[in-house]
Amino acid sequence: MEKQVFIMDHPLIQHKLTYLRDKTTGSKDFRQLVSEIAMLLCYEATRDLPLEETTVETPVALAKTKIISGRKLAFVPILRAGLGMVDGVLQMVPAAKVGHIGLYRDPKTLKPVEYYSKLPCDIEQRDVIVLDPMLATGGSSVDAITIIKRSNPKSIKFMCIIAAPEGIKAVTEAHPDIQLYCAAVDDHLNEHGYIVPGLGDAGDRIFGTL
Ligand code: URA
Repeated sequence: MEKQVFIMDHPLIQHKLTYLRDKTTGSKDFRQLVSEIAMLLCYEATRDLPLEETTVETPVALAKTKIISGRKLAFVPILRAGLGMVDGVLQMVPAAKVGHIGLYRDPKTLKPVEYYSKLPCDIEQRDVIVLDPMLATGGSSVDAITIIKRSNPKSIKFMCIIAAPEGIKAVTEAHPDIQLYCAAVDDHLNEHGYIVPGLGDAGDRIFGTL
């Protein structure tokens, strides 16, 4: 069976994650750290992009070299906290397109309600990386991936910073075909749905709405 969950334990990621978790880290630094960690996660999540041979003239000679072979990417942040990861991933892949998904669960029907969805019109030709810093219960991630799948992208990966075991289980069981990249898997969810030890509410810390 193909590996589905990738935990990025690179020292730079782990170091930045420590400061991200710290409750004394203010919004400005928090945003910067989310962006930097997203950039490093993106580096790993794009490791399997296929390359093709090309040549380029250096000031000295003709060099046989490689470029990414025509694969197009789209990043899709889940509103609102996923927005914090967009800058970082675009620094790695500036030509990527960015879609957005906003959803919540109707408390009565428990069905996902899409209050915003705008995906690139050529999404069938793109590999999608869904962004959400915290994978908690996995409910909105599962729903967002289901919605994106309806548009038939070439592939979907999911990238988060901290995951709870409950969220990993939900996403991998509902979508066994997607790969999940994260910087850490924490202990559990508390009774309020927060990841423990986690970092608190990522959206509030990114946007300073605590
Ligand atoms: N969303 C967050 O921002 N933090 C959590 O701990 C869980 C969900």
